Amino acid sequence: MKIKKVKPYNQEEDKTKQLSRMFNTISSKYDQFNDIMSMGLARVWRKKAILSLKPYKHDTILDIAAGTADIGIKAFEYITPTQITGIDVSEKMLEIGKEKVAEAGLNDKISLKVEDVSKMNFADESFDAAITSFGIRNFDKLEESIREVHRVLKPKGKFVILEMSEPRMPIVKQGYLLYTHTLIPFAVKTFSNDPKAYKYLTKSMEAFPQGKEFIAILNQNGFNCLKYKTFFMGVCSLYVIEKYSS
Ligand SMILES: C[S@@+](CC[C@H](N)C(=O)[O-])C[C@H]1O[C@@H](n2cnc3c(N)ncnc32)[C@H](O)[C@@H]1O
Repeated sequence: MKIKKVKPYNQEEDKTKQLSRMFNTISSKYDQFNDIMSMGLARVWRKKAILSLKPYKHDTILDIAAGTADIGIKAFEYITPTQITGIDVSEKMLEIGKEKVAEAGLNDKISLKVEDVSKMNFADESFDAAITSFGIRNFDKLEESIREVHRVLKPKGKFVILEMSEPRMPIVKQGYLLYTHTLIPFAVKTFSNDPKAYKYLTKSMEAFPQGKEFIAILNQNGFNCLKYKTFFMGVCSLYVIEKYSS
């Protein structure tokens, strides 16, 4: 399946480099914008994603595209991991994350590293579980990245994916498009330091595969789907998948 490649600034430059630059630029406003854009729902959805790891082994968790470390910090509230490793390509997002981790008193529990998910420096079978919230639609090499997560997970390791999606019901879809194409750009104009970045965030949501289409990609790259659920009439999707050995 050919996935349309959406890049923030131009078509020529490597997508991951552009994304690292983009998230570095918006890092100081990211948390605030995320809350406004999702009307606070991102926090609720992250909680659901973290809780979906509860029935499974989750001592060591890899938080992919960790950004400002909300998943790592909240994971210690909702479930009982022993160690979380967060990775991201944006140094500045992680810097903010490190401040938040220190404030939460979790320096010895959460480590944050600059790493690209498509070529991680971890040994095979290092983690019990992996999670990514609002990260996967940004990965330049989607299938390579999924296979990398497969490599670093222990046998039968679980991978939780939370991502924005487009509602299928026509009436809901119309409301959603009105929201993303009028209200969000308006909010961006009033408060953004990089309007292109926020345009990318909505355009990339529309281009990313969802539901059955995405599950087929996960199946082809070493995972079985245990659970697929959507929230808020399809605006957000949650996948709980399990590594299978071939
Ligand atoms: C929308 S933010 C999500 C941050 C956080 N997980 C959350 O729940 O808010 C997407 C993050 O993906 C990161 N990212 C993009 N491409 C990546 C890659 N190839 N490897 C690791 N992180 C990546 C970006 O730097 C950014 O911090």
